[in-house]
Amino acid sequence: MYSLVGADGFQRLVAAFYKQVPQDDVLGPMYPPEDLAGAEQRLRDYLIYRFGGPPKYIEERGHPRLRGRHMPFAVTKAARDRWMLLMDSALLEADLPADAVPSLREFFDNLATFMINQG
Ligand code: HEM
Repeated sequence: MYSLVGADGFQRLVAAFYKQVPQDDVLGPMYPPEDLAGAEQRLRDYLIYRFGGPPKYIEERGHPRLRGRHMPFAVTKAARDRWMLLMDSALLEADLPADAVPSLREFFDNLATFMINQG
């Protein structure tokens, strides 16, 4: 996957996602306004590591423990659905190789459901 999408593809994807966050009524208030660039970098580095690229995320953040790291945030079904809506729009905008998109989408969809931590 990493050789197909490349660091630049993950960069475009994550930039297209975070561009929508500040003005989103559900997700906007959840993210740190003063560190959106940092949040963008953490997601980018995680995806690059997760899909077989350089493990910068692990070097800087350690084991992902993503579910635990999302516990401070109210990830409801509505927040999860909004996250996926923004990611779907980012997947369209990022113009990734068509072969890569269905498995990325499935990965995001499953992990987003796993992040739900309250009704
Ligand atoms: C289901 C809805 C989700 C919501 C509402 C949500 C929200 C958040 C928020 C508010 C943060 C803190 C921002 C920051 O890093 O400063 C965060 C961090 C993060 N999220 Fe999510 N997230 C969701 C799903 C996902 C999914 C599906 C992934 C992976 C594909 C993901 C990956 C990450 C990563 C890697 C971090 C940074 C963790 C760290 O190293 O501290 N999130 N998320």
